[in-house]
Amino acid sequence: IRDDKATAAKYISEYIISRIKSFGPTPQKPFVLGLPTGSSPEGVYKNLVAAHKNGEISFRNVVTFNMDEYVGIPREHPESYHSFMYHHFFSHVDVDPANINILNGNAEDLEEECIAYEEKIKRAGGIELFLGGIGPDGHIAFNEPGSSLRSRTRVKTLAYETIMANSRFFGNDLSKVPKMALTVGVQTVLDAREVVIIITGAHKALALQRCVEQGVNHMWTLSALQMHPYAMCVVDEDATLEL
Ligand code: GLP
Repeated sequence: IRDDKATAAKYISEYIISRIKSFGPTPQKPFVLGLPTGSSPEGVYKNLVAAHKNGEISFRNVVTFNMDEYVGIPREHPESYHSFMYHHFFSHVDVDPANINILNGNAEDLEEECIAYEEKIKRAGGIELFLGGIGPDGHIAFNEPGSSLRSRTRVKTLAYETIMANSRFFGNDLSKVPKMALTVGVQTVLDAREVVIIITGAHKALALQRCVEQGVNHMWTLSALQMHPYAMCVVDEDATLEL
């Protein structure tokens, strides 16, 4: 528990930097990092970019896999997760573009795209650390309430609450918000060797309470992390209101 959003972000960015560095100066294999979008991790990306600029960390040996992407909006759309990631992170650090993996929401065969993504993660040696956020309904990536806790990367229809929550990025016009997305599954996240979740704000307090103080439940998909041997939620004071 940290005081506020900024100190939660500081804790996570320092943690990620130390994890990447502890992989050694000349590692034999890359550090595979799972990444989220959303307003929650923005501070983390800002800190990682700043640390890169002052020479503290290089991402040359990092391979990234993003959690999710909208279906049916162009990659160049300012609200695509592809644009988000380049704007907030990839354009400002030395990660090799060949090492960046983001689901293609415009793939001709979406199911094939999802299967290939899982295979790519496997070929990369699995995800070392998956950073994530949650929706106010406790969803992780786009694993909406009711998702199987064994789910893998797939096409998902967004819950009405998620469409509402995300409409702020689309001029508050519900009709402009994509209704479907590609997302890693709950099991894909559970397969990572370590999971770090950032949860800030009073609007996430109920979700945090349901996910950590109640039983594992597919209506609050983050609760699946209770089964993970090495997972951490970094939260601010506001998010603890229901604990
Ligand atoms: C979307 C993303 C999630 C993210 C959530 C919360 O639903 N698919 O990965 O955790 O938004 O976003 P925010 O951090 O802006 O509250």
